[in-house]
Amino acid sequence: MLQYMSVPVSGFSKKNKDQKIAWLAETYLNNDPSLVKIITQYWNTDADLQKLHDDFIENTISNYYLPMGVAPNFLINDQLYTLPMVIEESSVVAAASNAAKFWLKRGGFKAEVLSTEKNGQVHINFFGKERTIATFFSEVKPKLIESISEIQRSMKKRGGGLRDIVFLNSTETLEGYYQLHCTFETLDAMGANFINSCLEEIAKTFELLAHSHAAFVNENKFPEVVLSILSNFVPECLVRAEVRCPIDDLANNDVDGRSFATKFVRAVEIAKAEPRRAVTHNKGIMNGIDAVIVATGNDFRAVEAGVHAYASKEGTYTSLTNASIENDIFKFWIEIPLALGTVGGLTSLHPLTKFAFSLLQKPNAKELMKIVAVAGLAQNFAAIRSLVTTGIQKGHMKMHLMNILNQLEATSEEKEKTQIHFKENPVSHSAVVNYIENLRN
Ligand code: MEV
Repeated sequence: MLQYMSVPVSGFSKKNKDQKIAWLAETYLNNDPSLVKIITQYWNTDADLQKLHDDFIENTISNYYLPMGVAPNFLINDQLYTLPMVIEESSVVAAASNAAKFWLKRGGFKAEVLSTEKNGQVHINFFGKERTIATFFSEVKPKLIESISEIQRSMKKRGGGLRDIVFLNSTETLEGYYQLHCTFETLDAMGANFINSCLEEIAKTFELLAHSHAAFVNENKFPEVVLSILSNFVPECLVRAEVRCPIDDLANNDVDGRSFATKFVRAVEIAKAEPRRAVTHNKGIMNGIDAVIVATGNDFRAVEAGVHAYASKEGTYTSLTNASIENDIFKFWIEIPLALGTVGGLTSLHPLTKFAFSLLQKPNAKELMKIVAVAGLAQNFAAIRSLVTTGIQKGHMKMHLMNILNQLEATSEEKEKTQIHFKENPVSHSAVVNYIENLRN
């Protein structure tokens, strides 16, 4: 088997799907039919639908399922939503639903979009005089804008497009480094393709005009474009979501409202102060955010990168959420950057994304920003509520029970008995194994 692994394959992408699988089977899978069956059993029986998925990326061999669940009862700005969530972690949808139900009785979530500006940069090398390149930029700026008039024609018609180009001297951070910092409004599109097309055209025009610019020619020093790309750091594309209620309304069977609220606020303060806790705290927020982002066909890597950069914008990584008690009112809120789209990209291609948007009553990008921010806040609320009361393992292991039973290949009868037993008893992996072994003996 190993002898094949040392031989590189050429023209792999040109092979058809069966040929690719045959090559994998022979090279890595010892021609084991059971492994090949795992690949093929996930193919969709509808050939057109399968082809659609095949075409999303290169070298597709199968489909990788993740569960799509729904979390109902989200009251957001007085409108009721059911959120679509795609995620593998067993307790996330349950936690979202619990948080939604909890806040449904306390006025729901309020959310507002604070800004929607996206940005991208042309990164430039120039080792001549700063004044020469700064003057050149001022002269050619109208031509740079003119160069993208065709690209942005329809975006502009709808009220979007390039907002401005600002010349930045970044030589203090890196010798000879300048930028054209470009800002955009991309409306309901996430805008990556639009922004990158604009930036590449601006960069091309900038370099072209520089070549015949007298001052550069005289000094024999020309600017060179290193690269042009949008930024996934979008602190000017911000949304805020919030819940609030009198602290007495937070009382539950075991704790009074004030004690709960005080401990909750303290938990957020710890995440504000300690990066090790902040990372996990924010990971919990992203459980909710990513699940809705994936369900709606948005780019979760872009959102993750941007959100974590935002969490460290003051120089130390910190909590994305805040909590306070003022005049006996508990307030809990999040402010995050989210560059999302409801048109273009996968959003209009993946049939389940189409379903997700219908479920959400066809939101525009701003509405989606609010929904996603709420999903993050709700998830964080559920996590902290568990953490400062029972701990998360109780709920988490309860949800994880079915995974353990499936690992143990439990029958329906065994599953039923086990679930009844663990309603009253704490779930752990070894406790479930023992219980099943006892049943089987
Ligand atoms: C687990 O996926 C997420 C939590 O760890 C988040 C948190 O600790 O706040 C429960």
